Amino acid sequence: MKLSENTILITGATSGIGYALANRLASLGNTIIAVGRNQLVLDELAAQSPHVHPIATDLADVELVEALATQVKQQFPRLNVLINSAGIQYNYPFAEGAVHLPAITHEITVNLLAPLWLSSLLLPTLLAQPEAALVNISSGLGLVPKQSAPVYCGTKGGLHLFTKALGYQLARTSVHVMEVIPPLVDTPMTAGRGRNKISPDQFVDEFLRGFARNRREINVGKVGLLRLIQRISPALADTILKNS
Ligand SMILES: NC(=O)c1ccc[n+]([C@@H]2O[C@H](COP(=O)([O-])OP(=O)(O)OC[C@H]3O[C@@H](n4cnc5c(N)ncnc54)[C@H](OP(=O)(O)O)[C@@H]3O)[C@@H](O)[C@H]2O)c1
Repeated sequence: MKLSENTILITGATSGIGYALANRLASLGNTIIAVGRNQLVLDELAAQSPHVHPIATDLADVELVEALATQVKQQFPRLNVLINSAGIQYNYPFAEGAVHLPAITHEITVNLLAPLWLSSLLLPTLLAQPEAALVNISSGLGLVPKQSAPVYCGTKGGLHLFTKALGYQLARTSVHVMEVIPPLVDTPMTAGRGRNKISPDQFVDEFLRGFARNRREINVGKVGLLRLIQRISPALADTILKNS
C-alpha cells in the first residue's frame, strides 16, 4: 500500500494505538476519518490537522455502526483503508459467578461484532477502489490466552480467524486484508499492567513497514518471538502468557 493519499477510517482514534495511527497517517498526507466517542479528543485531532474528519459514535450499538457506514459511504466515496482499532479489555472472574450478560455482550460487540459488521458494510466501497486495505488490530492474547481476561481473548481469537478467512475470500481482489498483532503498547488500555512496553509511535513505525509491504500478518515487536515459541513449543507459549 502507498503511505499517502489514502482515505482511511480509523476506529479507536481517540486513544492509544488508534490515536497514534491517526496523527501519523494524517501527517503523511492521508485523509483520516477519526472515529471514537470522546468528542473532546476528536475535536483536538481535527484542530491539529485539516486532513482529519471526526465522527463521534458508539460502536457498542450496532445500529450506530450501520449509520456510521452509511455516512462514510456518502461523504467519503473514495475510502480505501479501514483500520479497526477500537477495543476494550475487562477482567472477569467467572469462577466467582460475577459476570453478567450485558458486560459480556458489550465487550464482544466492541471487539468483534463491530469490526466484522463495519468491514461487511464498507467492503463494497473498498472493493470499488484500485487498491485498498482492511486492517484489523487483534492481539497476541487472541493466539495464546491469559486467564484474567477470557472474554477479551475470545474476541481477539475470533478476530484473528475472521481476518484470516476473509483474507482467503478477498485474495484475488484489490483489497489487502491485514491482521496487526501488537505487543504490549503503552496506552490507557495497559495502564498499570505489564513491563517493557513499546510506545504507540514505535508501534506505528513497525506497522507502516508491514502496511507498505502488504503483509497479511504484521507481528509487531516481541510478537514475532511469541509466534516462534508457539510453533516450537505451544505449551511454553501457554505458560508464558497464562498469568501475564
Ligand atoms: N495496548 C496494547 O498493549 C495492545 C496489545 C494488543 C492489542 N491491542 C489492541 O489494540 C487496539 C487499541 O488498543 P489501545 O491500547 O490503543 O486502547 P485504548 O488506548 O484504551 O483505546 C481504545 C480505543 O477504543 C475506543 N472505544 C472503546 N469503546 C468504544 C465504543 N463503545 N465505541 C467507540 N469507540 C470505542 C476508545 O474510544 P472512546 O473512548 O473515545 O470511545 C479508544 O479510542 C485494541 O483493539 C486492543 O485490543 C492493544
